[in-house]
Amino acid sequence: MKKLFTEFSIKNVKMKNRICVPPMVVGFTDDGYVANENIERYKKLAQGGPGLIIQEATCVNSGGKLLGNQLGIWEDGQIEGLKNIVNAVHQEGCPIFIQIHHAGVVGISKEPICPSAYEYKNYDGRVVVGKKMTIEDIKSLQNDFIDAARRAYSAGYDGVELHGCHAYLISQFLNKKVNKRTDEYGENPEKFVIEILEGIRKVTPKEFVVGIRLGGFEPTIEYGIHYAKVLEKNGIDFLDISYGFMSEQEMHVNEDYKFTNAVYAAGKIKKEVLIPVFAVNGIKSAEIAEEILDETNVDIVDIAKGFLINNNWANDAKNGKDTGKCLDCAKCMWFGQSKVCAGKVLFERNN
Ligand SMILES: Cc1cc2nc3c(=O)[nH]c(=O)nc-3n(C[C@H](O)[C@H](O)[C@H](O)COP(=O)(O)O)c2cc1C
Ligand code: SF4
Repeated sequence: MKKLFTEFSIKNVKMKNRICVPPMVVGFTDDGYVANENIERYKKLAQGGPGLIIQEATCVNSGGKLLGNQLGIWEDGQIEGLKNIVNAVHQEGCPIFIQIHHAGVVGISKEPICPSAYEYKNYDGRVVVGKKMTIEDIKSLQNDFIDAARRAYSAGYDGVELHGCHAYLISQFLNKKVNKRTDEYGENPEKFVIEILEGIRKVTPKEFVVGIRLGGFEPTIEYGIHYAKVLEKNGIDFLDISYGFMSEQEMHVNEDYKFTNAVYAAGKIKKEVLIPVFAVNGIKSAEIAEEILDETNVDIVDIAKGFLINNNWANDAKNGKDTGKCLDCAKCMWFGQSKVCAGKVLFERNN
């Protein structure tokens, strides 16, 4: 492993290797406040040796949840519990960012908002029509993100990641198939997120890291590259490249491309920017991670389900041990209540 276990820095944040545990909501709280299980979970992940953890999508507004058991950062009272997560992770020598999130039309709210009156077919087959946001709604939501970042800084996080992909609110603004507004937030879809970034810079010190998880195909790779460049120009500190608005993407990637489409997008974007780029999706072994770093030139690899199966993934990879493998079940059990993961069961049986 020539590159995977080399150090890297984003501003003053030092990573001991190129492995990041990306955000993964797995529940435990009913009211958005941190539960002991959340703290324990992050402590274990930090003990597993990654260079960085990005905390799960944490809501900036109680009306913006994607799931009922999501963590929140919408009021100052939540800072105390979040500090406990930060301290537990820092004690293990690992930095931590927090992903801040609003679900928009794909959330569980009975009256979800959206940049336009977009029709979205929910997980249960229900068709939901988003309430088109007024300019007041837009300003208020932007302030929710800015306040959330201020709270994140107070809680001691090393940075924030704006959740700007996977069909959630920022992705809804960026994707022209969803955002049909005819005002400045439609003509200039990146305006919503750039104003959030500017607002965060006013309430946090300049060394505080602010990055984004961005869709590489929003809806096309050309738009993904465009948004990446615009955000770099406006001072974003890193780009964590994943998928865009899931049902509104146009992905034209050669079938014989070696890695997943999301990794392809990260590699394409890395060629166009100078800031750190993260790649994610289907990175199932340290060998694949190393190949991706080598061949795409991205700076960091995200290992998501690998760390759900084996909390000690990075240490095991470093020591040449079995890290476990995701079995790509038709429905990942970590999204539901039971959390009986076949990959984890197999890994524990073999180790
Ligand atoms: C249980 C679960 C929860 C997730 N929650 C989030 C989330 O909060 N924010 C996010 O950006 N992605 C989320 N993801 C996506 C992962 O961060 C990652 O992009 C995806 O699992 C692909 O990476 P992998 O192939 O290494 O698992 C979640 C994935 C899983 C399995
Ligand atoms: S439940 Fe299946 S898809 Fe999800 S992490 Fe486990 S093995 Fe992978």
